[in-house]
Amino acid sequence: MNKAAFLKYQAQTTPHPLAMEISHAEGSYIYDTNNKAYLDFVAGVSACSLGHRHPKVLEAIHTQLEKYMHVMVYGEYIQKPALELTKLLAKYYPKNIEKTYLTNSGTEAIDGALKLARRYTGRSEILAADKAYHGNTMGALSVMGYEARKQPFRPLIPDVRFLKFNAVEDLKKISSKTAAVILETIQGGAGFVQPKDDYLNKVQKRCNEVGALLILDEIQPGIGRTGTLFGFENYNCNPDIVVVGKGLGGGMPIGAFSASAKMMDCLSEKPMLGHITTFGGHPVIAAAALATLKEITNSELMHSVLEKETFIRSKLKHPLITEIRGKGLMLCALTKQADVTNKIVMEAMEQGLILFWLLYEPKAIRITPPLTISMKELEKGCDIIIKVLDKIHNNC
Ligand SMILES: Cc1ncc(COP(=O)(O)O)c(C=O)c1O
Repeated sequence: MNKAAFLKYQAQTTPHPLAMEISHAEGSYIYDTNNKAYLDFVAGVSACSLGHRHPKVLEAIHTQLEKYMHVMVYGEYIQKPALELTKLLAKYYPKNIEKTYLTNSGTEAIDGALKLARRYTGRSEILAADKAYHGNTMGALSVMGYEARKQPFRPLIPDVRFLKFNAVEDLKKISSKTAAVILETIQGGAGFVQPKDDYLNKVQKRCNEVGALLILDEIQPGIGRTGTLFGFENYNCNPDIVVVGKGLGGGMPIGAFSASAKMMDCLSEKPMLGHITTFGGHPVIAAAALATLKEITNSELMHSVLEKETFIRSKLKHPLITEIRGKGLMLCALTKQADVTNKIVMEAMEQGLILFWLLYEPKAIRITPPLTISMKELEKGCDIIIKVLDKIHNNC
């Protein structure tokens, strides 16, 4: 009903947005303004880890709203939600990761991490991976490994070079000039590509040899999505700087970068105010994130993620699907052709199931449901996918 106004007034990211008009959302379902229910297999692109309007997140938000909202820029006042959140993150991080800086989005946290690496090492070179996605502000865009999408915005930040993800022969590019290597623990936009053959550990070793830092972008795999709290726990690796976002917020906007106290303290001197933000650590958002983190770490959710992965993999066997990639509930199904993928995503939507694409892999269908999705709902969604696949297969 509001599509014309949506296209007229709201700036668009593509010429063909899905433009589904939302009425409300609850648990694993989103409802449009015709009251059609859609089972959500995307979770706001890996952000709604506890589904929609999780009662514990709502309670935390309501409780905080009764006390105070924004009172001061990040870092000046002691605000319990932000303090408790950073304290709890420190409890779960490896020992070397002690302090957390809370931001408004993932991309801002990436920019913060890049600045921190330069400031701490006194070096400028950043190495990133081909087909990497780390966000869209100028810093994060500079380490994006997809030239066509960043070319019109050049010049970007200088001294950024690229290596191939999983290519051990490229590790020699990491040198004593390198401030940091930034990698997604599992490459998202590239097609949910996991590190193989102890790759992350090898990168870490090479970084240690030359005094470079390893930044891991956990914005998608982090906070339980791969069955462990942080994706890197699956790959024998201890980064120097960790960046999280998305799923930490339980449906609210957040980002965070974390490192040792020694490193982090660099941002408060020479010069002081090395990274500042008005709304980072916002009390209502931090309260929502704290409730989310507690729920994920105190429940069976992370354990259930692996069971759910096994279930999805066993259900989605079909001649049109060539491969299922990823880990836990960060999965994608690949078809042979992009137009088949498009048909599947659009037809599934007709059938009341939300699927989506990945940024750079046009043959991939994103399957990243809320961690809270029930086995019954998973079965229902997988049945819809198979029904859609059969229909498209029969019409081929
Ligand atoms: C791996 C990764 N890094 C960074 C970002 C940027 O996060 P945000 O969109 O919150 O700025 C994203 C978002 O999709 C992401 O998937």
